[in-house]
Amino acid sequence: MASALSGASSTLDSSSDSSWNPEGISFPKSFAWGASTAAYQVEGGWDADGKGPSVWDTFTHQGGDRVFKNQTGDVACGSYALWEEDLKCIKQLGLTHYRFSLSWSRLLPDGKTGFINQKGVEYYDKMIDSLLANDVTPVVTLYHFDLPQRLEDQGGWRSGATVEAFDSYAQFCFRTFGDRVKLWITINEPYVMAELGYAEGTMAPGIKELGTGAYLAAHNMIKAHAAAWHTYDRLFRKTQGGLVSIALNSDWAEPFDPNSVADQEAAKRHVAFCLDWFATPIFLNGDYPAIMKSQISAVCKRQGSPSSRLPEFTQEEKMMIKGTADFFSLNYYTSRKIKHRDNTHSPPSMSADKEAEQVTDPSWPVATGSSWLAVVPWGLRRLLEYIKDTYNHPIIYITENGFSQSDPAALDDTQRWEYFRLTLLEILKAIYVDGVQLKGYFVWSLLDNFEWTCGYRSRFGLFHVDFENPALPRVPYKSAIEYAKVIANNGLMKSHG
Ligand code: BGC
Repeated sequence: MASALSGASSTLDSSSDSSWNPEGISFPKSFAWGASTAAYQVEGGWDADGKGPSVWDTFTHQGGDRVFKNQTGDVACGSYALWEEDLKCIKQLGLTHYRFSLSWSRLLPDGKTGFINQKGVEYYDKMIDSLLANDVTPVVTLYHFDLPQRLEDQGGWRSGATVEAFDSYAQFCFRTFGDRVKLWITINEPYVMAELGYAEGTMAPGIKELGTGAYLAAHNMIKAHAAAWHTYDRLFRKTQGGLVSIALNSDWAEPFDPNSVADQEAAKRHVAFCLDWFATPIFLNGDYPAIMKSQISAVCKRQGSPSSRLPEFTQEEKMMIKGTADFFSLNYYTSRKIKHRDNTHSPPSMSADKEAEQVTDPSWPVATGSSWLAVVPWGLRRLLEYIKDTYNHPIIYITENGFSQSDPAALDDTQRWEYFRLTLLEILKAIYVDGVQLKGYFVWSLLDNFEWTCGYRSRFGLFHVDFENPALPRVPYKSAIEYAKVIANNGLMKSHG
């Protein structure tokens, strides 16, 4: 594996000032060093102790080859029973922060607060208490793709009722765990859920409504996030003193032809239809980005429809949504080259609305476990600078970043560690050259886990999990050992790599 890297490293490190080498420079004091997981991907115990089903339980149990080998998260890493094993991994790394998600239907089996599953509360109490006892700060995501099935049966994110249900669930979580949890993320990657869950239908709940489903689901998720932020602000902030945000994923986009104005505009649209779709209303003005509104309405007009397929917020909703994040939570994995594509004759879909085509740069290496994951560390630096400039210089946490290996994966993942190392160098440049207020970095993921439609084929863990062995043993990859050194030093040592 290492040989592929040597040819690629110049491209990997092709940021604007690769002459400045920050190796050996420390990260800022109190930098948060984390790793992330999500309930459905690690917990297993899908129906243990009164847990209700989520859309992922339904989706995987239906089979139909939508998931690699029809695998499920029924057992996953077994973290529901093996939390102490996960804690050992966290301690071995020396993490200062651990990000995990609550399973909504483990706490509230039918999604509503009328019935609370005490066993679920006990499980998360145990996790939070033992993290704190070990000086690890919990960062808690309320919802990471696993909507309770009962809510989906009533329309899921296409229904306004889910906005209310989410707000009540959030209030319950703040009240139950907020004495100890101070960093909250309401929703993980609304883009992914909206587009893949409610438009393309490749992820749970598998709804195929191209051209409308994603816009409607996103509209409700933005309202749900804002409602939960206000609930925290009104009822808990004063006594609990925590912070609330939403985790937004985005690629960085470069124009395919840097001299083509059409490609430059298309690259902007690529970021607008992913990151700005959520960040503009939440961080800036309560409304969708102008570029998205005009683009979708122009495409709809060409398609003979007088009204836009993008829903509108009322004035009152805009006021409610604006300014509802206390920090910027970014999940970054990859970058793309983008070409303008005329879609006049394509059937309605978000990708057609965008009129932007992704082109893979053959010089960018690809993570062996995920064909979509072109490794572009300098793209992260550009994205961070874009966020700084566009969203009023916010405090940023990178709440996910990682590189998968395909199964079977070697414990000596030298090449993967090189990707991490180059990424950390770009982060240092972002902090010290560009002045980005970056406060933390979380690796996706602590453990190899259920990688959604890729099942267990795609391994993102710092720790290898043997899914064939009923004891589900966790063993560190080389990346885990190197990451622990970085954490202990609060920086990369010159000798690294
Ligand atoms: C998600 C994770 C996922 C990771 C790698 C992110 O989109 O939040 O759940 O496993 O990417 O695909």
